[in-house]
Amino acid sequence: MKNDLFLRACRGEAIERLPVWYMRQAGRYQAEYREIRKNYTLEEICLDPALCAKVTLLPVEQLHVDSAILFSDIMIPLGPIGVDYSLVKDKGPEISNPIRSLHDVEQLKSLQPEKDLPHVLETVRLLKQQLEVPLIGFSGAPFTLASYMIEGGPSRNYLLTKTLMYEAPATWELLMDKLGDMVITYLRAQVEAGADAIQVFDSWVGSLAPVDYRRYVMPVMQKIFAGIKDLNVPSIYFGVNTGELLSDFAQVGASVVGIDWRVPIHVARERTGGKVSLQGNLDPALLFAPWEVLESRARAIIDEAVQKPGFVFNLGHGVLPSVDPSVLQKLTAFIHEYSETKISQLHKVR
Ligand code: CP3
Repeated sequence: MKNDLFLRACRGEAIERLPVWYMRQAGRYQAEYREIRKNYTLEEICLDPALCAKVTLLPVEQLHVDSAILFSDIMIPLGPIGVDYSLVKDKGPEISNPIRSLHDVEQLKSLQPEKDLPHVLETVRLLKQQLEVPLIGFSGAPFTLASYMIEGGPSRNYLLTKTLMYEAPATWELLMDKLGDMVITYLRAQVEAGADAIQVFDSWVGSLAPVDYRRYVMPVMQKIFAGIKDLNVPSIYFGVNTGELLSDFAQVGASVVGIDWRVPIHVARERTGGKVSLQGNLDPALLFAPWEVLESRARAIIDEAVQKPGFVFNLGHGVLPSVDPSVLQKLTAFIHEYSETKISQLHKVR
């Protein structure tokens, strides 16, 4: 691997400049991706290792980011365990057999990655032959997956999910347990196939009060990170709107915590007690701002970030489909140049 900056930053080691990658760095904002999507659905792309590897590589080649993330979706491993989903344009996942009872949870099968998702593992192996930067494997987290499985689709207030959680705690626990095992199995398979790091997307867990997070979700997250610890790869735990959960996020066993733009970096560092590295946290909407505004906000993040080791530059959530790719290109180059200058200045002072 030519460039391991991302892995070193995750481990809190010294770096010459900040590594950067973007959540949803492959997708509809790219003309090449839109062209491929004329002939293939997202699931079809994922079923074709050569094509999936090509889509994964697009942003690495075009933006010069410091890591690749496997092209897939958090819903992909749910098909084999019995969830009947489809991905609906501009909406997200829709599920035709939502989970509403203990019986529904009992019916969920366990995942056998080599048998159920051989194409995903083959894509990882193919990518490893081609990449000069680290490859991130990923999974959705139990709460976020459960929210789709219970609601039947995207949700504003997660009412059905929370009602099941409060009303039928044993059903909820079994669901968390089964999804937790699925996540561990899936992440382990990706790492064994060659992924250099993993990210767990708990995008919607910020909808919970801290007291509920601790009681209903934190145990399964601790089980997940304990269940992959022996693999010794950096692990990132990400969610949106998680400012009030960050002290708990620092204790689940992930080596990196992903933060959104609502929390300043020094506050996130205080709340996580310096125990983990951080990843984030530019508001994805800033990619639509005038360059001067975007640049000044990226500079402010870098100025704070370089003061301590252990920072990976990213957005606070995924790239939006209408972004101009040249803005991401320019931003990436700026982050590289400016952070390198800042870090070398700091070394001279010390
Ligand atoms: O980051 C990457 O480049 C890897 C690819 C990736 C996708 N989905 C591809 C995708 C990743 C990491 C995901 C994770 C994912 N999927 C999350 C967690 C991250 C987050 O954004 O919070 C969630 C919540 C989902 C569920 C999901 N799948 C949504 C909300 C959507 C968008 C619906 C839409 O049409 O806008 C999807 C579909 C999806 N997954 C697309 C892509 C590129 C949309 C484009 C397409 O259909 O081709």
